[in-house]
Amino acid sequence: MGRRKLLVGNWKMHKTTGEARAFAEELGRHGASFPDGMDFAVCAPFTALSVLRVLLPTRVKLGAQNVHFADKGAYTGEISAAMLTDVGVTSVIVGHSERRHLFSESDEWIRRKVHAAVAAGLTPILCVGEDLRQRELNHTLRVVERQTLSGLAELTSAQVAGSVVAYEPVWAIGSGQTPSSQDAQRVVSVIRNVIATEKGADAAASVRILYGGSVTPANIASFTDEADIDGALVGGASLDAASFAALAAGMMGGAQ
Ligand code: PGA
Repeated sequence: MGRRKLLVGNWKMHKTTGEARAFAEELGRHGASFPDGMDFAVCAPFTALSVLRVLLPTRVKLGAQNVHFADKGAYTGEISAAMLTDVGVTSVIVGHSERRHLFSESDEWIRRKVHAAVAAGLTPILCVGEDLRQRELNHTLRVVERQTLSGLAELTSAQVAGSVVAYEPVWAIGSGQTPSSQDAQRVVSVIRNVIATEKGADAAASVRILYGGSVTPANIASFTDEADIDGALVGGASLDAASFAALAAGMMGGAQ
């Protein structure tokens, strides 16, 4: 179907500017690990964006981890989409489970953030996923369907086609536990199907859907080899440059 694989690092609240600089310089020495035909991004803290814009290898795009939905105004502590594009950001994570749970972000806020990101020309990376209790109650599919449709509700089909969804089971994040790749594929295919129903077959065929949650260089290929999984959103294992390069190589190895 011609969807390019995508590896996204999510640094969360890690790295000073000096640490970001060291990462970018080391990553530059791993240039050979970035195969053509695949895309790479690092979603860094706001404070590290300007440093990374200059130093990241050109194959690795710059991403952020949050955005506010207003253009500007009295929103102390917030960052607008225009501020992100101004420092070279091309994609932004929206609705990560840590934002949903620790910072009480609602589906409505997430929908507005996705819309603001797209309106500014950013690629939104909309995170969806069930927590452990929802999984145990067998509510996984209904949770991810609701979060997906709500998050993408304000986008046109063409805008959805250019967007990214990340399926991240909350219980798998930072835990060392993962669903089986078949399990992840099953959920991701359901996400693609609900997008087809709501936004049309073209949008569903083009939207990239990632898996995230305890992805490592050792297990990345098992996920990204699945038919509907177009890449990975990686936290812990993306913090080290050698590990990031190994994730890229792992994804490539699996694709061959
Ligand atoms: P993890 O985090 O890879 O450390 O599990 C993934 C994420 O939260 O995006």
